[in-house]
Formats: sequence, structure tokens, C-alpha cells
Amino acid sequence: MVKKNACVFISGKGSNLKALIKSTRDCNFPVNIKLVICNNSDAYGLLYAKINSVPFVVINAQNNDFENIALQQIKKHKISIILLAGFMRIISKKFIKNFGKKIINIHPSLLPKFKGLNTFERIIQKKEKKTGCTVHFVDEKLDNGKIILKKSFYINNKDSIETLKKKTQALEYRAFSEAIVNIFRYN
Ligand code: GRF
Repeated sequence: MVKKNACVFISGKGSNLKALIKSTRDCNFPVNIKLVICNNSDAYGLLYAKINSVPFVVINAQNNDFENIALQQIKKHKISIILLAGFMRIISKKFIKNFGKKIINIHPSLLPKFKGLNTFERIIQKKEKKTGCTVHFVDEKLDNGKIILKKSFYINNKDSIETLKKKTQALEYRAFSEAIVNIFRYN
């Protein structure tokens, strides 16, 4: 199997990056991670790139400059898919068009519910019965593009922001890899 080259964008903890790197060890997994791009030099997640010898670039620039440098790196590494894994910036329409290939994101709620930040706080406030995570294609609107898959669980009355986060992230690690397998199944 010829694997596609993926680039993972991160900003923080990088636990999804860690899970994705683990998935790439399976010879049937359709992508290899050839590059990590990060907009925060203090991001803990950079450690996973370092210890797994995945090339990484920290780009501190803002707006257009960030995207221009990112695009140069992406071309250099012949990237076919971008995976947003806890990347805390909105990608512009121009970037999406210039890249011209698949960009996917993982979000800690059952989209279209609870787009944006502070999802767990809002889920608790709204007394939701069920929550989970969503993997979707990225368009120019926040947490908006076509949904690839969702995974869910029931919330119980003992759940807190912390337990919801823990349960959701455990689902995310499987959901992200499954979504990647799904989108490359027929091409
Ligand atoms: C994840 O919960 C993801 O859904 C959201 O940001 C978080 C990133 O976590 N977009 P990590 O950096 O992968 O640990």
C-alpha cells in the first residue's frame, strides 16, 4: 500500500497527535505523518514529534505570514492531507483553496452542537444527555464542514467537565484514525 503524506497541525497537548502516530505504525493505515506544524513553541505535543522523529516546524507568525510559511512547508513535504488536532486557529478560505486537498478536524462535541470553545462547560450547563466527538472536513467556517464520523456516549449525573473531557478524548483517539481510514477506503 502506498501511504499518503499527512501533516498534523497542533497548538497544545498533542494527545491526538500521539494517537495518530501510533495508528501510522499499522501497515494498513493509509497515511504516514511526514510533518507537524505548530503555532506555539511551548506546546507539549511537540514532544511526540521529537521522540518519534517526525519533522516539525513551529511558526510563530500571524495571519497571512503563518499560512504562507505553512503552505511552503506543506509543498516541500508533498503533503496530501492536513489533520487539525487541537489547532487553535481558524484556517482561511484562501489557505483551503491554495492547498486544494483534504483538511480534516476533530472537535469535542456532537456537531453541529457546541461549535467553538469551552464545549464541556456548555454541555454541562445545557444538561445534555449525550455527547461525543466529531471528525469533519474543514471549510472556511468554524467547526462546520461535511461530517465524516461521530462517536458518542451517554452523560451521567456524576459527570463533570473533567470526566467529560477524559471520556471524549478517549473516543477521539479512535475516531480520528477511523475517519482517516474511511476517507481513503475508496481512493
Ligand atoms: C481535542 O479535544 C480536540 O477535539 C480539540 O482540541 C483538543 C486537542 O487535544 N479540537 P490534544 O492537543 O490532541 O490533546
